[in-house]
Amino acid sequence: MVLKGSVGSQGIDVPQSRIRIRHVARIIAVTNQKGGVGKTTTSVNLTTGIAACGKKVLLIDMDPQSNATTGFGITQKKNLSTYEFLLDLCKAEDVIISSSIPNLSLMPSSMNLAAFEMEVAEEKEREFFLRRRFSAMEEAGMSYDYVIIDCPPSLGLLTINALSLAQAVLVPLQCEYYALEGLTHLIKTVESVKRGWHSSLEIEGIVLTMYDKRNKLTDLVEEDVRQCLGDKVYSTVIPRNVRLSEAPSFGQPALIYDTGCSGSKAYINLAREMMQKHGTL
Ligand SMILES: Nc1ncnc2c1ncn2[C@@H]1O[C@H](COP(=O)(O)OP(=O)(O)OP(=O)(O)O)[C@@H](O)[C@H]1O
Ligand SMILES: [Mg+2]
Repeated sequence: MVLKGSVGSQGIDVPQSRIRIRHVARIIAVTNQKGGVGKTTTSVNLTTGIAACGKKVLLIDMDPQSNATTGFGITQKKNLSTYEFLLDLCKAEDVIISSSIPNLSLMPSSMNLAAFEMEVAEEKEREFFLRRRFSAMEEAGMSYDYVIIDCPPSLGLLTINALSLAQAVLVPLQCEYYALEGLTHLIKTVESVKRGWHSSLEIEGIVLTMYDKRNKLTDLVEEDVRQCLGDKVYSTVIPRNVRLSEAPSFGQPALIYDTGCSGSKAYINLAREMMQKHGTL
């Protein structure tokens, strides 16, 4: 099977994966190839919301920009990161950090991760690095109720590694003109991955971000998305809220920085809606 175009110019040769994942956890990749749509804000605050509901959760930062990592107040200089974990240069227990939030652990990223795609470009089964390492982690007895993966803004090899591990894809969608075009492209990529080697991958849901009811375009995009994707679109919407954008500069999830702001309340609702859907609340 060769998947071309959406995952880079060379395409990827993909044999069937035989790497077993026990799937004790619900593993969700937060993905949208479009930049700045709220992937990291969603990953950080959804993870915090799930942990606040008493579930054990791991956030994997798969983005070399490391925004989810700094969003928790962690600055990566010499520490181990997702990069070393992927390349089997360290053990999971050495790279995963317990955050100051009960139940919430983080696998931090670093700039090193930017080199990953180039370094493994010639390797066989290069889309399964994360899946292989996660399987080893499960073998070692590390388990979580939820694993959330914050993806970079591309459909390159890092995102494909995340999709190859995840059971489902959560898509933050900003209500703007080009949003639907990008969504169609993303859904096609998910379909290709499903057809290619991961038939059980599903769309977890679409969450509307930076939602502003006063903006006419918001209404139009929302109507279109709900019409096309029906109950795949979460009832909860994330409003545009300045507290959500301030929180990372204090190294805190918004849910900790200002629990009562409209953005935090929305992310708690999103966590609850998701967990209700899974029957885990
Ligand atoms: N609901 C919101 N209200 C106001 N600002 C927001 C909201 N969501 C995100 N932002 C801000 O928008 C910017 C982009 O958000 P974020 O980093 O979460 O997007 P992203 O999709 O992860 O970006 P990238 O594609 O670069 O990884 C950030 O400055 C963030 O603080
Ligand atoms: Mg991001």
